[in-house]
Parts: sequence; structure tokens; C-alpha cells
Amino acid sequence: MLMHKKKLSVILLLAISVMIMSFKDAPEQKKEEQKFSNLKVLSKKISHDDLIAVMKNYNTALGVKCNHCHAKNGEKLDFASDAIPEKNIARKMQKMANAINKKYFGGNSGTVGCMTCHNGKTNPNDMK
Ligand code: HEC
Ligand code: HEC
Repeated sequence: MLMHKKKLSVILLLAISVMIMSFKDAPEQKKEEQKFSNLKVLSKKISHDDLIAVMKNYNTALGVKCNHCHAKNGEKLDFASDAIPEKNIARKMQKMANAINKKYFGGNSGTVGCMTCHNGKTNPNDMK
């Protein structure tokens, strides 16, 4: 009888922990589904807010709007599309900035960013 009770409580404990775990997992999985689909340089785990902050920084640093790199699909911008070549240039630039920071400034310091060279211009070599 005692054995029985022990077994029962173990099973109960297991059931409860499974329940807790599935509660914990549920919102996580939901978030995963809404994740960005075409990230090759930025972390795939980046939050929505952090990604938008990076994008706004691109806008400011280059003096452009989102449509400088993101192609239109009907009325809306299709952010996952790679149709505009500037988007891939931006990927290359982000990789370069990451590499410079890693090699010369330490880790992901972000010391050198788009602004460092572009300073609000699309082409830093354009001195006008
Ligand atoms: C200078 C170019 C550039 C500008 C300007 C820019 N983006 Fe992006 N955007 C990128 C690049 C490059 C990526 C992909 C990054 C990667 O591959 O990791 C990206 C990815 C994204 C994604 C993720 C798409 C997906 O599902 O993979 C969203 C959303 C997005 N940008 C929104 C914006 C918004 C909103 C703006 C304006 C506030 C903006 N971007 C301005 C270059 C740009
Ligand atoms: C070390 C300096 C430097 C940094 C840092 C830098 N760029 Fe550039 N970028 C340049 C230069 C120089 C050019 C012009 C290249 C040319 O004329 O071929 C350029 C050109 C570009 C272009 C193409 C011009 C166009 O038509 O839009 C894009 C897009 C771009 N950069 C995005 C970025 C983004 C996004 C970042 C930050 C992640 C960044 N760059 C960081 C130096 C830099």
C-alpha cells in the first residue's frame, strides 16, 4: 500500500513537471513561428525590437528609408525578399563591421558601425 502511494506520487510529480514544461515551451514555440525567415548575418534569435533598432540605425547611417534595401510587393515591403542588391551589400557591410570590431576592438563592441563611415550618406566616398 505504501509502495503504491510512492509510485502514485512519483507519477503525479512527473505529470506536473511535464505540464509545467509544456506551459513554459508553448509561448516560446509561438514566437519561433513568427521569426524572420531570411537572416544570414544577424542572429536568428534576434528579438523583433532589436531587429527594428538595427534597421532604423541603417536608415539613419545611410540617410535612406527602408525601401532603399527592401523591395515592394504590392503596397507593402517584402522584408524577406533579396530582390534589391543593396540588401546584400548591407549584409556584406555588416559582416565587415563585425569583423573589424572583433579583430581590433574586441567582441561585439559595435564600436565601428555603419555610421562610422557613412555618416548619413549612402556613399561615404561621395564628399558632397
Ligand atoms: C541598408 C539596407 C537596409 C535598410 C535601409 C533596411 N534594412 Fe531591413 N534588412 C537589411 C538586411 C541586410 C537584412 C537581412 C539581414 C541578415 O541577413 O541577417 C534585413 C532584414 C530585415 C527584416 C527581416 C526579414 C526576414 O524575414 O528575414 C525586416 C523585418 C526588416 N529588415 C525591416 C526593415 C525595416 C522596417 C526597415 C526600415 C526601418 C529596414 N529594414 C531598413 C537591410 C536593410
Ligand atoms: C569601413 C567603412 C564602412 C562601414 C563601417 C560601412 N560601410 Fe557601407 N560602404 C562603405 C563604402 C566606402 C561604400 C561605397 C563602396 C563603393 O563605392 O563601391 C559603401 C557602400 C554601401 C552600400 C552601397 C551603396 C548604396 O547604394 O546604398 C550600402 C547599402 C552600405 N554601404 C551599407 C552599409 C551598412 C548597412 C553598414 C553597417 C552595417 C555599412 N555600410 C558600414 C564603407 C563602409
